[in-house]
Amino acid sequence: TSAARAQGATFPFEALPIHTDATVHVPGGYEWDVLVRWGDPLFSDAEAFDPTTGITLASSDRVFGENTDGMEAFTVDGRQLIAVNHEYANIDTNLPWKGDNAFTADDVTILQHIQGVTVMEVAEGADGWAVVVDSPYNRRIHHNTPMRIAGPAAGHPLMRTSADPDGVLALGTMNNCGSGKTPWGTYLTCEENFNGYFGASDPASVETPGLKRYGVAAEGRYGYELHNARFDVTQEPNEPHRFGWIVEIDPADPDSTPVKRTALGRFKHENAACAIAPSGQVVVYLGDDERGEYLYRYVSNGTYTPGGPTEGLLDDGKLYAAKFNDDLTGDWVELTPEATGMEAAEILVHTRMAASAVGATTMDRPEWVAVNPVAAQAYVALTNNRNRGVGKTNAGGDPLEVNGPNPRAENNYGQIVRWMPAGDDHAADQFAWDLYVMAGNPVVGQGPYAGSENVTEGNLFNSPDGMMFDTTGMLWIQTDGDDSNEGPFTGMGNNQMLAGDPASGEIRRFLTGPKGSEVTGLTWAADLKTMFVGIQHPDAPFPDGEGSLPRSSIVTVKRTDGALVG
Ligand code: FEO
Ligand code: CA
Ligand code: CA
Ligand code: CA
Repeated sequence: TSAARAQGATFPFEALPIHTDATVHVPGGYEWDVLVRWGDPLFSDAEAFDPTTGITLASSDRVFGENTDGMEAFTVDGRQLIAVNHEYANIDTNLPWKGDNAFTADDVTILQHIQGVTVMEVAEGADGWAVVVDSPYNRRIHHNTPMRIAGPAAGHPLMRTSADPDGVLALGTMNNCGSGKTPWGTYLTCEENFNGYFGASDPASVETPGLKRYGVAAEGRYGYELHNARFDVTQEPNEPHRFGWIVEIDPADPDSTPVKRTALGRFKHENAACAIAPSGQVVVYLGDDERGEYLYRYVSNGTYTPGGPTEGLLDDGKLYAAKFNDDLTGDWVELTPEATGMEAAEILVHTRMAASAVGATTMDRPEWVAVNPVAAQAYVALTNNRNRGVGKTNAGGDPLEVNGPNPRAENNYGQIVRWMPAGDDHAADQFAWDLYVMAGNPVVGQGPYAGSENVTEGNLFNSPDGMMFDTTGMLWIQTDGDDSNEGPFTGMGNNQMLAGDPASGEIRRFLTGPKGSEVTGLTWAADLKTMFVGIQHPDAPFPDGEGSLPRSSIVTVKRTDGALVG
């Protein structure tokens, strides 16, 4: 219970040892199963998945997408829906026929279809959980789905393209990484490494301060620019400005148009963690996952009342960057035209430059933020940063010497920082902070590389990334790190999910993923008796076994005694 948690509860499971094999492991008293894999049908007109060639062009937008990531569960009309991200593509797995050949137009269309977002209905029957094929709620949102652009940057000259001269309607949401859920029951999908989808027919086109700060390069990862002019920044220099946003999707209305919420800034968004301030203002914490970039907070000007109107709550507000002081205090610095020397809409399009201008604290790759539901505190996973140290800078030239919440040069293990807002008010501009855990290796590491006291031989991990609280106030930590199990990573095994007790600091391993995979995305069934966990980019033939392509999957985890798991 949350009361027990506040006193430092014991864990309801035995610690799981590491694993290095090609499957999932959970502790005794728990069982896991596969809910859905890349290529499984959402609609009955989809062709069957071929274990050696995967999916077909015709079915590519009728099946569950690739690289499952952030997800949230919703109950709509008594039905259980899950909205889930498909972050990026694995060419060897998704286009096994391609080899070293150039991307064809059909290859590009397949890749555009298998990324983005799935909304699907799921149900539990005698054989366990399954997707409800042909549910009216099932929906694929991909790289060509129309999206409304809303908020202060909508219509700005930086947002206009030849196909959309008004700058109000974009096509697609891309590199959907972490997730969020609004208090009013909509899904937030977070556009992260959008830069990799663009290229330039004239390499000089990418040499602008804005494109350089966001990492747009002359050659894209997936050949989009060879087949779709909008991905060639020589022809469409503003198209990249239409990605890197938080997108709101209403899973209850399969005909709704997703909305890009520009008031929440543009960067490589990891997730979007919502809180409600005592005033009723909506607070959204946001990380920018890049070495030496920043942590952000949005606070709405309007207030939310349950069941009341939500118009404008994500369009009209203030955006802040975090400044951590060495005395364990911190400040949210508002990104205003006065503070940044930038006009209001430009602050939203080039948010990284605005945060640099106010001297925010450079961070070790902010991944997920999680807000504790039973105490006024929030946590951010700082996954790792090999570029931390004297003489290193981020892409904006900001120096990356060690600082309070990022105290380790050559930081290959990562840490979790938490903050406690002044007056228990997430809208307050001051906070206190501390380090919840410094990952490390006390067996082979020395000094700061041994990790903090709550890291032991029994719970070794590196590169915290996904993070989510359950309703009892237990912090679930997922990793996306080095799974070589060698050298500094000896004893860490495959990527994993651990549970952390906020009060005692104790951390215990709960689940391990298959070799090569990252464990990312976590949500719960409405009755809290099933946990849904994402397994992304296994490089073993998971879950179908030898002879099959590897398939990113969502797995279910339950207690064998049917008790609650969250
Ligand atoms: Fe997509 Fe930063 O993880
Ligand atoms: Ca992540
Ligand atoms: Ca990561
Ligand atoms: Ca990932």
